[in-house]
Amino acid sequence: MEDPSRLTREFLEELGTKKTVGEIEELRVKYLGKKGTVTEKLKSLARLAPDERREAGRLLNDFKALAERELALKKEDARRRELASKLASEAIDVSLPGIFRRPGRLHPVTLVMSEIIRIFTGMGFTVEEGPEVELDHYNFEALNIPKEHPARDMQDTFYISSDIVLRTHTSPVQVRVLEKKKPPLRFIAPGKVYRCDADVSHTPMFHQIEGMMVGENVTFANLKAVLEAFLHKVFSPQVPVRFRPSYFPFTEPSAEVDIGCIFCGGAGCGICKGTGWIEILGSGMVNPRVFELAGLDPRNISGFAFGMGMERIAMLKYGIDDLRLFFENDIRFLGQF
Ligand code: PHE
Repeated sequence: MEDPSRLTREFLEELGTKKTVGEIEELRVKYLGKKGTVTEKLKSLARLAPDERREAGRLLNDFKALAERELALKKEDARRRELASKLASEAIDVSLPGIFRRPGRLHPVTLVMSEIIRIFTGMGFTVEEGPEVELDHYNFEALNIPKEHPARDMQDTFYISSDIVLRTHTSPVQVRVLEKKKPPLRFIAPGKVYRCDADVSHTPMFHQIEGMMVGENVTFANLKAVLEAFLHKVFSPQVPVRFRPSYFPFTEPSAEVDIGCIFCGGAGCGICKGTGWIEILGSGMVNPRVFELAGLDPRNISGFAFGMGMERIAMLKYGIDDLRLFFENDIRFLGQF
């Protein structure tokens, strides 16, 4: 039997070179496994004399105990190190900023439109809609604007055919509702309108809101009260409101409505062109001819109507000085609302 202390030395030397749990386990199999060194040596004890055998057996068992202890210690150590490095490599810095999507925003025209709808529905108005591709009849004829009427020149119309147009205003919805529903009526009609015009202050498509109130005794005083209340709500309760005589074929009398310039407070500036006033909407008492053309008897009813551009109101509310910004879809602009 060879020197057992040599076996111990060799084993410890070899163990010193092993680093991973896997390597240490391999070493355990090599020495202590079923076909390992210790088993082989135990078998060879049979060839020894009885007292030599007992002594050699004892030494082998001592070695086995030492090897088991050393292997277990080293394995536990390796296991700890491997776990620590795994944890370090998989660590997550929870303080890092996350990946986020910027939320969408409502377009300023949509914002103004919703606010105006909210104000009028608060006064008992309902919301109506009409087609953007409209019959000449509803866009002009039924609004007391016959074929040769000079008022047709006021609006640069996109013609689809001789009797179909892109609506140039939301006023055709007045007629469609009058034909369909029985007075008393109180409604607004928001939507897109089209005019063949493009420069700093005009785009071929823009938005309007039409309004109409029809009943037995609707007067110009009602028109003034409703529009004044509305303008004080969208702008400010202090803003001065002025009614100025005007002309529309479908209203009589007609008035354009101005507010005191919200930029200079009425002193006169570039925005109000020195007048101190800013035009906001067109309005008037429904022309009896419009009732007749819609099949209603103007002797029993009266009403008022008004119409206004949304982009214009958005420009005033948000201090936007270029109409084209609304349609360029630049996120740096849109993200501000
Ligand atoms: N439709 C008119 C325009 O586009 C505005 C208006 C509507 C005027 C209703 C009076 C009554 O200019």
